[in-house]
Formats: sequence, C-alpha cells, structure tokens
Amino acid sequence: MKNRKGIILAGGSATRLYPLTLAISKQIMPVYDKPMIYYPLSVLMEAEIRQVLIISTPRDIVTFKELLGDGSKWGMEFTYKVQEKPAGLAEAFILGADFMGDDNVAMILGDNMFYGNNLSKILKHANEREDESTIFGYYVKDPRAYGVVEIDKQGNAVSIEEKPEKPKSHYAVPGLYFYTNDVKEIAKTIKPSERGELEITSINEEYMKRGKLKVEKLGRAMTWFDTGTHDALLETASFVQTIEKRQGMQICSPDEIAYRKGWITAEELSNIANKLIKTDYGKFLKDLAENKIGEE
Ligand code: TTP
Repeated sequence: MKNRKGIILAGGSATRLYPLTLAISKQIMPVYDKPMIYYPLSVLMEAEIRQVLIISTPRDIVTFKELLGDGSKWGMEFTYKVQEKPAGLAEAFILGADFMGDDNVAMILGDNMFYGNNLSKILKHANEREDESTIFGYYVKDPRAYGVVEIDKQGNAVSIEEKPEKPKSHYAVPGLYFYTNDVKEIAKTIKPSERGELEITSINEEYMKRGKLKVEKLGRAMTWFDTGTHDALLETASFVQTIEKRQGMQICSPDEIAYRKGWITAEELSNIANKLIKTDYGKFLKDLAENKIGEE
C-alpha cells in the first residue's frame, strides 16, 4: 500500500479563546488530562501514520518541539514547520510539500478531536483509498454553522457549501482530510478567498471536479468535537473526564496507542509512565505496561 504521511495544523490565532490564548497556543491547552494536540495526533496514529509534520506559528512552534520532541518516544518521526501567518488551511500542503515527497497525506486540524469505537475501521477505509481523496461527514441536527457536504449513493461528494443558510444535507465536514499526493500541486493553484485565506474548500472542489472525492460518514457511535470556544473546550474536557473515570480507559493517549501498535515496548511504556506516576494517567500506563488492563 502507498505510504501516507500526516500533518497536524496547529497554528491559527485562536481569537475565540481570548484571553486564554494571548500568550500560548490553543493546541497546547489542556483537554482534561492531556494537551489538546494529543487528540488529533492519536487519530493519525490510529490511521497507522508514523511520520508527522507539525505546523504552527513562529511563537508556538518551540513549545510543540518541547512537548513532542522528535517522536522517537512513541516510535514515530516528527518534523516541524512554521506558518508565518494564518493564511488558511490549504497552505498546509504548500508548507508540507517537501515533507510529503511522493506519499499521500492525511491532514488534521490541531483542535479537532474524534472518539468512537469504529474510528479505526473508518480510517482504514480512507487510508486504503490510494487514488482518490476522502473527507468525512458528521451528522448534525443543524449544520448551518459548518461546511456541509452533499453525498451521492456511491459515497461521492457532490457539493460542499460553507455555512449555508439552507443546507443540502445534515453532514458537517470535520477537520480531517485524506488526500492523494497531487494535493501539493492543487494547493499551489488555488487563489485566496474574499477573507484572504487559502481555503480547504477550494481543494475539495477541485477533487470533486475530477470525480475523486469520497465521503466517509461518521455514524452516531462517533463523537467529534472542535474545541475552539470556551464552552466547547470545557464540554470536551468534561466528556473526556466522564468516559475515562467510568471506564478506566484512556481517550486518545499516544502512549497507549504506540504500545498497542507495537511501536514501543512494555519497558519503554513503563519508563514513560514512571515520569507521570503521580497522575491517574501515569498509573493507567503503568498498569498497561504490566498487562493489568484488558482489551476494550
Ligand atoms: P480556526 O478555528 O478556523 O481558527 P483559529 O484557531 O485561528 O481560531 P479563531 O477562530 O478563534 O480565531 O482554525 C482551525 C484550526 O486550524 C486551528 O487548529 C488552527 C488551525 N489553523 C492554522 O494552523 N493555520 C491557519 O492558517 C488557520 C486558518 C487555522
């Protein structure tokens, strides 16, 4: 299968979270017991992606390097790139062109979180599609605040509208995109929108024109959060706390995923856990390393 690399877009200005983000990045902020970026990173890991480019602002890139390092602690490979200004989501593929090389790519927004037991299966479908691109459709009651995708019976995207007054479907498009390698070229050709940004929708429209854009539906067993406002951030944290406390399981732990996938050994996991041992998170990892936690 063709290799696929990952990009986490973790820049932006996060004005909807002011004053929290006046001095630090949104994607460094806590979502209950982990930094926000752990959640999108976990999604890429679930998709078997081990080479990841992290894009952030000149101010924040240093913090991400300090938090995540070169990825080797999880058996991964991280590289970093600065986005000078928040010029739009599609710029990720201009900044990431060299990193991508000849590979396909999955891009996730640093403030998007997905959770659900069929996630791996859905990601696998998207991953295995080597010659077509994939976006996702999340059913919401009122999709007017989102990008909305209309889907035909074969699972092709037929139209995408940004924040439509009269949505043509109930499927909102979350911040996760699986593209073929030619996204590098497409990104170079698109023009900034009225708000001056290189829009991801322009890329999706180009794939639609070519008849190469599939949509994977995220069903009701899936949860999708965008943590961009004060309320959304707190609600997401409460959700994570509730599930973790009740089930004694972790949501989106890169440490756990790396171990379960065999990218790190029990001993390596145990060493990670030792540093965090005053927390329930660290205790969970220790138990996992010692085989005291079953499969879900
Ligand atoms: P948004 O939530 O659209 O923007 P923002 O994070 O700057 O927040 P606000 O609306 O409060 O000002 O961005 C979605 C994600 O994409 C978020 O994780 C930031 C990231 N992003 C970039 O990294 N670069 C960009 O050019 C843009 C537009 C967003």
